Amino acid sequence: MPQKTIYLCNSCGGEFLKWSGKCAACGEWNTLVKFTPPKASPASKSSGAVIAPLDFSKVTTGNFNRHSTGIGELDRVLGGGIVPGSVVLLGGDPGIGKSTLILQAAEAISKNGSDKVLYISGEESPEQVRMRADRLKLPGKNIIFLAQSDVDNITATISKQKPKLTIIDSVQAMSTADVPSGPGSIAQVKEVTNRLVNIAKSDNLPIILIGHVTKSGAVAGPKTLEHLVDVVLYLEGERNHQFRILRGIKNRFGSVNEAGVFNMGENGLTEVKNPSEIFIEEREASAPGTAIGVTFEGSRPFLLEIQSLASGTDFEYPKRSSVGFDYNRLQILVAVLTRRAGLKLANQDIYLNIAGGFRVNDPALDLPAALAIASASLSKKVDPELAAIGEIGLTGEIRSVSHLDKRVAEASKLGFKKILIPGKMNNIKSPSSLIRVTSIREAIRKSLT
Ligand code: TYD
Ligand code: MG
Repeated sequence: MPQKTIYLCNSCGGEFLKWSGKCAACGEWNTLVKFTPPKASPASKSSGAVIAPLDFSKVTTGNFNRHSTGIGELDRVLGGGIVPGSVVLLGGDPGIGKSTLILQAAEAISKNGSDKVLYISGEESPEQVRMRADRLKLPGKNIIFLAQSDVDNITATISKQKPKLTIIDSVQAMSTADVPSGPGSIAQVKEVTNRLVNIAKSDNLPIILIGHVTKSGAVAGPKTLEHLVDVVLYLEGERNHQFRILRGIKNRFGSVNEAGVFNMGENGLTEVKNPSEIFIEEREASAPGTAIGVTFEGSRPFLLEIQSLASGTDFEYPKRSSVGFDYNRLQILVAVLTRRAGLKLANQDIYLNIAGGFRVNDPALDLPAALAIASASLSKKVDPELAAIGEIGLTGEIRSVSHLDKRVAEASKLGFKKILIPGKMNNIKSPSSLIRVTSIREAIRKSLT
């Protein structure tokens, strides 16, 4: 029987019988590639051995013997450190700082003790990585380096060297001669990852894989590997801004409700321990068009400044534009402000921006965003001592949000004396005065001065 040919999506890994220009699973264009699965070995009669199952109630978890990476925010997202034998995938846009973060971790993890960290680059020469290390002022005494892209050489080397940690930069640059398609193709990337996972498990050595998020379908993205690895982290941010968020997406050894915040500067990534203070530091509270909201990243709340600008439009259709805030959400807020609060926005261009270059997707920021827009369009400033928390519904009602108590506590801690919260939420204790609001109209009346 001839081998069946299928088509694989390089973006999401979807499988199809027919080629098409657009992947029906993830919606990306031009990502389907032809793939002939290797012949399956003939089905054989079961020859497995009988294995005694464990008494489940006697299974203990221990603490997985985690190693600290030496970078607090990274440890936090990993669930307390890296677990031997685990495979961590670190994804992110090209140029966002993945190699930088991991090189810093390699240095910190290898600084104490004599165990080596093996850094394998398939993209950069030893000199290029050395240059980065010099820039970061990292001596790299216990780092051993390999410029290599053949995964079979790599697994053999790992087995021999037994490094405390192995770094693969990047998984898309690696390949095996056993798969006919080129490096970066979905078949290669999956096979490479499988081989690395096998060596990590069999030798109980941890491996960090770096994976680029790719917009074009030419190279398989890290999404296609998420199910193969133990931990998936993404480093996110706007490349031209200084802040980066490291988010856990999957963690077989800990919670995914963690996020680390970093500042990309001269000396690489530094941890931001108190994000709130930094994000609202440059605020010009005396100007109209700015409001403070409290967002939630992982298990931590932090304060953000939301800015808006309204100006008379020169066009038939007024312009709405947002940076860091969902565009459709902005349009809804503008419609609600028009219909439910009586604001005249039809002849105004509205811009909305999250200060600091953050991308947020948190309904609790509806209220501060709406207040910023109202403030800008009415040229009245929001009370500088006020922070606002709440989702806005289509009838203009202020709806409850998750983790209200923690958000309120964070705003109080940072000195906000008045905190707008959804009217129906009870049992919140706070030294600040809480202002309960039930509608957007009421919220605007109580916050603009
Ligand atoms: P890099 O870690 O190479 O990104 P990735 O591996 O995710 O592709 O870092 C990319 C950018 O970071 C690069 O454009 C320069 C900048 N950078 C700094 O701003 N400060 C630094 O100390 C370093 C090493 C890099
Ligand atoms: Mg890199």
